[in-house]
Amino acid sequence: MSKTYHIAVIPGDGTGPEVVAEGIKVLHAVAGKAGFKLNLTYFDLGGDRYLKTGEVLPEHAVDELRKFDSIYLGAIGHPDVKPGILEKGILLKLRFELDQYVNLRPVKLYPGIDCPLKDKGPEHIDFVVVRENTEGLYAGAGGVLKKGTPDEVAVQESINTRKGVERCIRFAFEYCRKRKKMNKLTLCGKTNVLTFAFDLWERTFYEVAKEYPDVKVDYAHVDAITMWFVKNPEWFDVIVTDNMFGDIITDLGAMIQGGMGIAAGGNINPQGVSMFEPIGGSAPKYKGQNIINPLAAICAGGMMLEHLGEERAGKAVEQAVIRVTATHLKSLAAGKMGMTTTEVGDLVATYVTEL
Ligand code: IPM
Ligand code: MN
Repeated sequence: MSKTYHIAVIPGDGTGPEVVAEGIKVLHAVAGKAGFKLNLTYFDLGGDRYLKTGEVLPEHAVDELRKFDSIYLGAIGHPDVKPGILEKGILLKLRFELDQYVNLRPVKLYPGIDCPLKDKGPEHIDFVVVRENTEGLYAGAGGVLKKGTPDEVAVQESINTRKGVERCIRFAFEYCRKRKKMNKLTLCGKTNVLTFAFDLWERTFYEVAKEYPDVKVDYAHVDAITMWFVKNPEWFDVIVTDNMFGDIITDLGAMIQGGMGIAAGGNINPQGVSMFEPIGGSAPKYKGQNIINPLAAICAGGMMLEHLGEERAGKAVEQAVIRVTATHLKSLAAGKMGMTTTEVGDLVATYVTEL
């Protein structure tokens, strides 16, 4: 009997539903070919629901989501909703409640894609950022005093626990070993200034490193790493860092791999339910025009398959995407692909069945 995966789908806001539809098209195509099934359950979460009902994330939704094999997410963010409400109320809440403690973000330049870096090609840009996903500045610790007065005080603290730091670093070592590329793990921090938080990170990093003698270790300050991403991206294999730095450096990473049109990520709980998403956001100005690039969502679907253990199917999705970027797309940018959103999805879905 063929295996069935139960997937929760959250199309979300803006262009989320459009790109998710193409991702699902490709997932069904590859599933048919590889001999497994996908059972999809859609969840109506996001800005429209909030504006209609006042509900951000109903209590029962998190418990229902826990029961799935994986979650496939489009985008969260609505122009008519004050920034922070949906992001914190849905996206971050799910990451925290489901304890998805790693945000995994591959940065890979595919053939045929324009790279903004001079003299760099696919052979130079292929690394993965392991971003801690439940602590740091995102934990929401801190507060405000005397708000709106000249004496206002705002404190936002970075929470770093030994347990949280260690499990993230351990994941990065394991991932690096399994990836078998350069066997090199770089810790990205700021040990020269953030001497409490990154002292904990650094000590933990070198302690755990003793258990992985086959993995070479390196350290870079976060400001320097933004420099190296531009100058020498080929130095990197796997990078591990905290939540805030990871957020920032992966946007830079997305740009050097060709832009948000292709950048995907996974929110991973190795013991629980993980969630895969294109990282580009809801892009509301392109909504409903059939011009948004669905490749990031399609790649997120491929990552989801690999995570579920369907490694060959996941790789097939990537290969099909590469065939499209190498031979068909004029650009990765919305409205400039030379094809519509649905045409790109159709093409990847066709190629994936030919592999
Ligand atoms: C990301 C996004 C989120 C983050 C926002 C939308 C809360 O920028 O996934 O990188 O900061 O983590
Ligand atoms: Mn971000």
